[in-house]
Amino acid sequence: MNRLFLKKTLTCLQQEALDERHGLKRALGPMSLVLIGIGVIVGAGIFVLTGHVAAQIAGPAIVLSFLLAFVACGFAGLCYAEFASMIPIAGSAYTYAYATLGQFVAWIVGWDLILEYTLGATAVAIGWSGYFASFLKDLGIILPVAFTSPPVNYNPELHTWVATGAVLNLPAVFIVVVITAVLVIGISESALVNSIIVFVKVAIILVFIVAGAFFIKPGLWHPFIPPNEGTFGVFGLSGVLRGAGVIFFAYIGFDAVSTLAQEAKNPQKDMPVGILGSLFVCTVLYVLSSLVLTGVVSYTKLNSPAPFAVALDAMKLRVFAPLLKVGAIAGLTSVILVLLLGQTRIFFSMSRDRLLPPVLSGVHPRFRTPHIITIIAGGVTAFLAALFPIGIVGELVSIGTLLAFVIVCAGVLILRYAQPEAKRMFRAPGGAATPILGVVTCLYLMSGLPRDTWMRLFFWLIIGFIIYFSYGIKKAVREESSAE
Ligand code: ALA
Repeated sequence: MNRLFLKKTLTCLQQEALDERHGLKRALGPMSLVLIGIGVIVGAGIFVLTGHVAAQIAGPAIVLSFLLAFVACGFAGLCYAEFASMIPIAGSAYTYAYATLGQFVAWIVGWDLILEYTLGATAVAIGWSGYFASFLKDLGIILPVAFTSPPVNYNPELHTWVATGAVLNLPAVFIVVVITAVLVIGISESALVNSIIVFVKVAIILVFIVAGAFFIKPGLWHPFIPPNEGTFGVFGLSGVLRGAGVIFFAYIGFDAVSTLAQEAKNPQKDMPVGILGSLFVCTVLYVLSSLVLTGVVSYTKLNSPAPFAVALDAMKLRVFAPLLKVGAIAGLTSVILVLLLGQTRIFFSMSRDRLLPPVLSGVHPRFRTPHIITIIAGGVTAFLAALFPIGIVGELVSIGTLLAFVIVCAGVLILRYAQPEAKRMFRAPGGAATPILGVVTCLYLMSGLPRDTWMRLFFWLIIGFIIYFSYGIKKAVREESSAE
């Protein structure tokens, strides 16, 4: 790829960013962006996965796993912020890869991001269903297991799928359908709904931290890093690494803010604030709440789909459990909303570039939202959430997102050399060290994830290559030549 091509692409993208003709409303300020970031970050990771990681992988050192994952996300977040401030149009890592690494890598990233956004929304919808069923149970309403569970599960020892006897996960389908409808109606309305929900879930986590502080028994933090049990990733330092790879899921989403650049009032200034601000706030919440969790109850007892409720039990505050579940349900709702929103905007950009059929980027005449692609993304999410278990889906989300982060950090590095003069409203500090460390730390977290997950990633990428070479490359090239 030559410098002239890069310069041309980047200039076109920057001009396009100033152009309002794509029809999306510019309705979001910095505060809305931070709230959207928190809305999408705090979800199933903290409310569901924390217990599993503390009890079976890292013990109280889950705090270190959180910090390790934060370091990787911090480097990637700085790179995202630099990119978003240079190329403020919809599309996230997809757009950035297009500007720096060309169409083929952009396709890989766009295809890979489906794992983060559509499968991310799927995983959280499954977590939502679990909390919803548990909340109704507190009220004395028991939903039949056959309609709140996936019909299949994966047996990692036999490497095979087995039938569970259940029919489908109906509450997960329900929440995805409702959110899809909200998104079709419009971005302003979606941002307002999101702000209210974010307020509720952050308030509940803060109350948990403050109340829990009075019940901490420091003895429960010893040993802080339980000794390794002889297998890689089961406690010890390898447990901290594997824990970081798994709990990384809890940070996924801050980059979703960058997909909204086309709808930000002042993208050059607001995007870095939105991305880095939301990442920082969430890290503080995660570290404090995991300290409280492992400080009020032995980590060995936390292996529950609702670890916060276990901690409330230990504090003899069980009466607050339904309230906490309402907060968790609200929190998970906003995560699904923003992930689906991000997915539709990425598809919108890919379709405008003709890597996907142009009909998908149609904007609704009244709501001015990309309604066709929103309904398709919502439909696929609902379908997957109905059928699959959260564990398998969550691991694929983590590895896919980490791969996207690696490519974004590499893209920032390339652009620093290929386009040193390009205007950057925000420049990640530390020179080349930040993108390089971003690549290294994200690869390091990927190395902690299981082999089966790596195989699924390769399989997904191969399907992507087939689609690209049989459709995208021809359409996109034809479009470019007819425009000349
Ligand atoms: N970070 C999001 C969550 O924890 C995906 O649910």
